[in-house]
Amino acid sequence: MSTTHKAHCLILPFPGQGHINPMLQFSKRLQSKGVKITIAPTKSFLKTMKELPTPVSIEAISDGYDDGGVDEAGSYAVYITRFKEVGLDTLSQLIQKLRNCGCPVNCIVYDPILPWAVEVAKKFGLVSAAFFTQNCTVDNIYYYVDKGVIKLPPTQVDEEILLPGLSCTIETSDVPSFVSTPESDILVEMLVNQFSNLKKADWILINSFYELEKEVIDWMANIYPMKTIGPTIPSMYLDKRLPDDKEYGMSLFKPMANECLNWLNRQPISSVLYVSFGSLAKLEAEQMEELAWGLKNSNKNFLWVVRSTEEPKLPKNFLDELASEKGLVVSWCPQLQVLEHKSIGCFLTHCGWNSTLEAISLGVPMVTMPQWSDQPTNTKLVQDVWEMGIKAKQDEKGIVRREVIEECIKLVMEEEKGNVIRGNAKKWKELARNAMDEGGSSDKNIEEFVSKLMTIS
Ligand code: UDX
Repeated sequence: MSTTHKAHCLILPFPGQGHINPMLQFSKRLQSKGVKITIAPTKSFLKTMKELPTPVSIEAISDGYDDGGVDEAGSYAVYITRFKEVGLDTLSQLIQKLRNCGCPVNCIVYDPILPWAVEVAKKFGLVSAAFFTQNCTVDNIYYYVDKGVIKLPPTQVDEEILLPGLSCTIETSDVPSFVSTPESDILVEMLVNQFSNLKKADWILINSFYELEKEVIDWMANIYPMKTIGPTIPSMYLDKRLPDDKEYGMSLFKPMANECLNWLNRQPISSVLYVSFGSLAKLEAEQMEELAWGLKNSNKNFLWVVRSTEEPKLPKNFLDELASEKGLVVSWCPQLQVLEHKSIGCFLTHCGWNSTLEAISLGVPMVTMPQWSDQPTNTKLVQDVWEMGIKAKQDEKGIVRREVIEECIKLVMEEEKGNVIRGNAKKWKELARNAMDEGGSSDKNIEEFVSKLMTIS
C-alpha cells in the first residue's frame, strides 16, 4: 500500500446509474479523508459510461455478461444468479491482483443487492460494509417482507399496512412496486435477499440522514446497527469545505451542460420547472402526451429531460412548436447544477431516491409522479412526512392527466397553499447540510468509519 494511504476500500456497486452515483460520491468523501479508493464496476457497465470520474481508480470485474450485462442475460433472475457465480471469482481475483501489486485492500464497500460480496470479504479477512442506496423506510419495508409481516402480493389496493418503526401509516399503494405487484417476484427476492447475510457485515451504511428518518432509523437500530452517511451529493453543494468536482462524474449519458446552464441563466429567479424521470423509467406514450400538455398549459418555463429512447413518444410538433417558447428539452442534464440554479422553482420528479435526496439537499419543492420500485414510498414521505411536495394522482387507467399536472405545478410554484411546501423545502435543505457539516449526524458516522479503518490497517 502506498505510504500516503493507511486504508484502501474496494467499492462494489450494482450496475445502475442510481446505485453508482451515491457510492461514487461516498468514495470521494472517503478519499478526501485519506482513504484509497478502487471502484469495481462490471465490465459491461463500464463500457456504457459516457463520463468517468478522474480522482478514483477503476478496476472492472466480470459479471459473466461482459457484452451486455442484464440485457445480455435476458432477465434479472438469470443475471443475478450468474453474477454471483462469476463475481465470487472475479472479485477474489481483483483483490489478489491488488495485493500482488503492493496495494492491498482492507475493506469492501458493497451494494447489498450483491450480498455474496461479504463472503469474499470474510475469505480475505477484510472489513465489509453494506451500502444501502435506498432510504431506511424502504429498507424497513423489504425487511418486513423478508420476515413475512407483509404478505406478497397484498390482497387489496388500499389495505393499510402497520409496520413497526414507520413515521406514518402506509397503504398498499405506498409500498415499493416490486412488493405490490405479483409479477415482480424475482426483483422483490433480489431486494429481500439484501438481508440474507447482513448480520455478517461489519458496517451497514445508508444513504440518508438521521434527522430525515429518525423514527425508523432508531427502530431499525434495534435490529441492525445502521449508520446514515448521506446525503452523498458532492460536498461542494453542501458545505464548501472540501475541494470537489460539481458532478457525479460516472454517467451513462452525456449531459448537455452548456445548453442547460446558458438557458437557465436567462430565466428569472424561481421561475423554472425542472422535469426528469431518472435513468430507467419508461413512460407510456399517452402519459408523455398528457405530461407535455400539462407543462404547456401550466404556462411555466420548463427544462425537461427526455432520454433519446423516450423522445419518439413526444407529441408531434411538441419540440418545434409547443415547447419552443417556454421550454427546453434535453436528453440528459447536469442535474445537481440544475437543481442548484437560482432559476429553478420546482422539480417534477419520478421520486427515485437520488433525485429525491438531491431535491431535499438543494431545497427544491417537488411535484411527484412515481413510476415503480421505491418511488411510491419516497413519494409518500415527500408529501405526508416531509411535506415538501405533492403527488400528481393517476386516474383509474394509471395515467396522470394534464389538468392534474397543471394544478399541482401551480399549487407548488405559485399558490398560498404552496407556501408551506416551499418553506419546508428550505428547512430540509438546512438539515441536510447540517448532517454533512463538521460534527453533523452523517459526518460523525463517516468519521467513525474512517477512523476505525485507519486503526485496523
Ligand atoms: C433507480 C431507481 O429507479 C430509483 O427509484 C432508485 O431509488 C435508485 O435506482 P433512477 O431511476 O435512475 O434510479 O433515479 P434516481 O435514483 O433519481 O437516480 C438518477 C440519477 O441520475 C440522479 O443522481 C440524478 O442526479 C442523475 N441525473 C438524472 C442526471 O445526472 N441527469 C439527468 O438528466 C437525470
